[in-house]
Amino acid sequence: MKTEISRPTNSNELKEAVVRAGNLIKQGNLVAFPTETVYGLGADAMNKKAVERIFIAKNRPADNPLIVHISKREQLLQVARTLPEVAEKLMDRFWPGPLSLVLPKNMAVPAVTTAGLDTVVVRFPSHPIAQAIINSANTPIAAPSANLSGKVSPTSADHVIEDLINRIPFIIDGGDLEYGLESTVVDCTVEPPTILRPGSITLEQIKEIVPSIVYESEHKTPRSPGMKYRHYSPSAPVILFCGDKSKTTQRMKEKLDRISDSKTIIIWHSGDFSRLPFNYQIPATSIEAAPRIYYALRAADSHKPDRIFIQSYEDTGVGHSIMNRLRKAASKIVIC
Ligand code: TXA
Ligand code: MG
Repeated sequence: MKTEISRPTNSNELKEAVVRAGNLIKQGNLVAFPTETVYGLGADAMNKKAVERIFIAKNRPADNPLIVHISKREQLLQVARTLPEVAEKLMDRFWPGPLSLVLPKNMAVPAVTTAGLDTVVVRFPSHPIAQAIINSANTPIAAPSANLSGKVSPTSADHVIEDLINRIPFIIDGGDLEYGLESTVVDCTVEPPTILRPGSITLEQIKEIVPSIVYESEHKTPRSPGMKYRHYSPSAPVILFCGDKSKTTQRMKEKLDRISDSKTIIIWHSGDFSRLPFNYQIPATSIEAAPRIYYALRAADSHKPDRIFIQSYEDTGVGHSIMNRLRKAASKIVIC
């Protein structure tokens, strides 16, 4: 299959691309498109055959359910059976935006979309292109991140192309994204409501609306099936240096001195590694770093290094979400 890539530069081209995307989805085909978090790979969530194509294109294990995207609150009861009160509160505060809610599933949603679970995860994205495509297709859209399963999520159309060229019919390039980390997934069917995947909306923000919210422990078997896979992972081994800035800087320098003959790429925010031949500097605050992390991991990996060193962030707020992803990407964690 040859992939068509649309890079709209004005509103007419954008309209054309959205109509094309909507038609492809109505016909049961796949489209990769921007959202405010990462690029998604969309199909009609209500069409079993279409959703099966997502699993094939991504090489995704069939037991990993998909997030269903809507563009108006009225679509909710097409996919959810009932709305827990806590879900309504969270929607009022954070939708449209990077928050996905686990809700009781409506029978009309095919089992393949939710990997046989009796819950469905729903999200109302804020990105105007995502909203326009859902409107144009006139159906809820199931969309995982538009990467090959196990790879780092895509934050640019070029990342989507790297993984899915000639595996899907259509990609829309919407440029850079606002958040660059996947949505936060909150289970609203359990007591207390639980964050299954930390993301762009933080625990602290949710606490203001739902004081009883908790994180699911990273140590037990995850209830969000996708969290059990070694995700977000470049091909090169990633070594994560954890601790405060001065200690991680010191330790990375020591390690680099010892392995100077081989190709190590360093992704850093503190200390000064800018004179090293292979280095990517990322912002020191987690809010500014979040949209750059996947970009840096993919860029580093493209040089086919022997290993990638990366410096930790403080484990609070968005920093917690970054650390959740980095711990999954890491083959080794050095506590400094
Ligand atoms: O930001 C995002 O959420 C992006 C954009 C494209 O919207 N999508 C995304 O989808 O990250 P994906 O498929 O890469 O991750 C979905 C996560 C997985 O960890 C999956 O296991 C979990 O949501 N999930 C889906 N349905 C679930 C359910 N019914 N119960 C628990 N976890 C579920
Ligand atoms: Mg994903």
